[in-house]
Amino acid sequence: MTTRTLAVVSAGLSQPSSTRMLADKIAAAAVARLEEQGFEVAVESFDLRDVAQDITNNLLTGFASAKLEKVIVAVTGADGLIAVSPIFTASYSGLFKSFFDVIDNRSLTDMPVVIGATAGTPRHSLALDFALRPLFTYLHAVVVPSGVFAATGDWGETGDTVRSLPARIDRAAGELVALMKDSQRPSRVHDLFVLDASFSPTGAYTAS
Ligand SMILES: Cc1cc2nc3c(=O)[nH]c(=O)nc-3n(C[C@H](O)[C@H](O)[C@H](O)COP(=O)(O)O)c2cc1C
Repeated sequence: MTTRTLAVVSAGLSQPSSTRMLADKIAAAAVARLEEQGFEVAVESFDLRDVAQDITNNLLTGFASAKLEKVIVAVTGADGLIAVSPIFTASYSGLFKSFFDVIDNRSLTDMPVVIGATAGTPRHSLALDFALRPLFTYLHAVVVPSGVFAATGDWGETGDTVRSLPARIDRAAGELVALMKDSQRPSRVHDLFVLDASFSPTGAYTAS
């Protein structure tokens, strides 16, 4: 059986986190579709709050801790990525952005990505398209057309989804799976001690 790896990154801060809940639902929909089509799926999910201090240290020193390096290797080596942020002050959260600041800016090239966001108000849903989508476009990832936005009103009292959210999740998952099925991504081994031609440490900015 052919295996596909799916990385799930959630930048929610609360516990439990609605951002993580949304990320899990998108992942479950993608896994179900991949399995229906005969793939074995390996899912690795990460809450960025668990490596928040490591991300800050990486920004300050240029080096990733072993714990953060594991996350970076899993994310950049996956066949597909689900990236979900809470909306803070009308955009992605600082933690979400900082994670994508510390990874090498070439390492998500050609990566199929679903973007998602949670928020208090549906009025900030365009943040998906003016903030998250350009971030991944800059990184040369392939962002699927449907982003998934879940405001407080999209969840029921039990935390389950209401109204059209499941349909939006399913649509985005289908678009992700269509790209992941044909994934040719080479696994990107990320060696902390390898310097590129410009002698920049891992994660440093490379003009592209
Ligand atoms: C500092 C801060 C800023 C926020 N700014 C916004 C905002 O601009 N628009 C909005 O709709 N919700 C905003 N929210 C609400 C969060 O987006 C929302 O509660 C989110 O779903 C929390 O995710 P979590 O449960 O995974 O922590 C903000 C919350 C915090 C803590």
